[in-house]
Amino acid sequence: MRSILTSKWTKVVVFLASLVPFGILVWRLFTSNLGPNPVETLQHGTGDWTLRFLVITLCITPFRRLLKLPELIRFRRMTGLFAFFYVCFHFLTYLGPDQSFDVSAMLKDVGKRPFITVGFLGFILLVPLAITSTAGWIRRLGGRRWRMLHRAIYVVAIAGVIHYYWLVKSDVHKPLEYGAMVAALLIWRVAAWLSDRRKRQVAGAAPTAEPPTAETA
Ligand code: HEM
Repeated sequence: MRSILTSKWTKVVVFLASLVPFGILVWRLFTSNLGPNPVETLQHGTGDWTLRFLVITLCITPFRRLLKLPELIRFRRMTGLFAFFYVCFHFLTYLGPDQSFDVSAMLKDVGKRPFITVGFLGFILLVPLAITSTAGWIRRLGGRRWRMLHRAIYVVAIAGVIHYYWLVKSDVHKPLEYGAMVAALLIWRVAAWLSDRRKRQVAGAAPTAEPPTAETA
């Protein structure tokens, strides 16, 4: 398993697999096979894949630890960047066909329709995460600050779920499923952080837990 995860070909396969949904949408666009409402099909397809890639990215750390496969980290940057890739196209399907590339009309709509406001917030938050995803930026910011900044991916995922929940008219099953996944991942993360902190405290307290000596008593 480890040799598969560390192979450069696995990265190539994951990269190409991540492009498949995009390829299918482009193929359907050029063969006029997007159904009665092509814009809606593109918006829904790219929106769905943004949310899926966000959830996949959030799954990597728990899976690394639970399955004891630290090599999974090799794919986190790629899946996160694919979330950004799909949201860019998602945004373009809105800015172009919906708003005719009129930025001021778009900003008015962002202020008017709450589901667009929340989606836009998620998109804007993803921009700095995509920019600072490189090793150079980790060095520049320092590991601690970089990790703090990148925790914003949870906010992006929550914004994505709320955006989805608010836009569906009747059947809220799918947004609720995504919501449950994001909530479970967030709870796991908080629990892991608390357990790590307890372990650090125990390790830090260990020397002083020793019986006091003549000097310390
Ligand atoms: C992280 C950011 C975002 C995520 C995760 C996301 C996700 C989604 C999802 C899952 C859908 C529904 C797909 C379906 O029904 O199968 C959707 C629809 C939509 N999204 Fe987003 N979105 C995001 C950002 C945005 C932004 C920035 C805009 C525009 C400013 C936007 C505009 C729309 C529109 C117009 C629809 C279709 C609404 C309808 O059919 O009535 N989204 N999005």
